[in-house]
Amino acid sequence: MSDFVRVVEVAPRDGLQNEATPVATADKIALVDRLSATGLRSIEATSFVSPRWVPQLADAAEVMAGIARLPGVSYPVLVPNEQGYARARAAGATEVAVFTAASEAFVQRNINTTIDASIERFAPVMARAASDGVRVRGYVSTVLGCPYQGAVPLADVVRVARRLHALGCDEISLGDTIGVGTPRRAREMLLAVAAEVPIAALAVHFHDTYGQALANVAACVEAGVRVADAAVAGTGGCPYARGASGNLASEDLVYMLHGMGIGTGVDLEALAATGRWLCERLGRANGSKVGQAMAGA
Ligand code: HMG
Ligand code: MG
Repeated sequence: MSDFVRVVEVAPRDGLQNEATPVATADKIALVDRLSATGLRSIEATSFVSPRWVPQLADAAEVMAGIARLPGVSYPVLVPNEQGYARARAAGATEVAVFTAASEAFVQRNINTTIDASIERFAPVMARAASDGVRVRGYVSTVLGCPYQGAVPLADVVRVARRLHALGCDEISLGDTIGVGTPRRAREMLLAVAAEVPIAALAVHFHDTYGQALANVAACVEAGVRVADAAVAGTGGCPYARGASGNLASEDLVYMLHGMGIGTGVDLEALAATGRWLCERLGRANGSKVGQAMAGA
């Protein structure tokens, strides 16, 4: 198996949105700039959600103003509604991501609405993005289980993914928000969605709560997906998803993909060094096995 997987680095957004202790804006900017230097092509830089809901990322505009954007690297940001879109554009964002979920209970807690209403809310964002030439990614959360509802029918995942795609999202990221999935189920979920949305337009986003994220992504890459989200040092979690712990660590993903003969364009040494730097800044343990191993090597 030889080819290329695009790693979407989400630590500056997913990684930092759930940190208990405040992170200085300068450190957020330094994180994005360090990640930019590793060869990553997509770095989710921050989030223009309500600062009351996610105070950790209230400085989104300052982060966007401070980062050095490299040519060939995209810096998408999360937006939940038109207000977020306007803020993101004013801050210079040229790519955005909208987000909803396959389970009603989670959408209610995370964005205070229903699945249908969330998608209706995206329609004017999509229209503005189309006329601005802004690329829009769409996230579907809780694809393998919901912290409030429990099991999530596959048909619901497929339906929401299909709607986001039909609305104009050119990439749909399928999120195992609370990391409960296992490889066979992850693969089944991916293939069920791929029957309705071209697999080239799909990405996978695994949290590692139960230690399954790397196995899940391996199963999905073998099934044909070529975009995978991850967060350096295994940071991450959603403040509105009980039990959501860190994302799949980017270092572990890149090490595995390179070992499978799949290119990423990422300099693993530089990525691992960034992970260690981030852990020092956050005063937390490194959630990447590869990062730990390379530190001891
Ligand atoms: P609401 O309270 O229902 O919103 O929240 P509202 O429209 O009634 O507005 C209430 C107040 O918020 C108003 O201010 C608005 O102006 C303001 P007030 O008049 O009271 O002073 N407001 C905003 N301010 C700044 N930027 C905005 C914005 N929108 C409204 N964009 C809302 C609804 C969607 C805003 C809220 O629920 C929210 O921001 N939720 C975000 C939650 C979140 O960020 N979760 C984490 C990201 S999702 C995730 O992590 C999963 C993912 O990683 C994939 C996976 O793992 O599965 C992507
Ligand atoms: Mg996430």
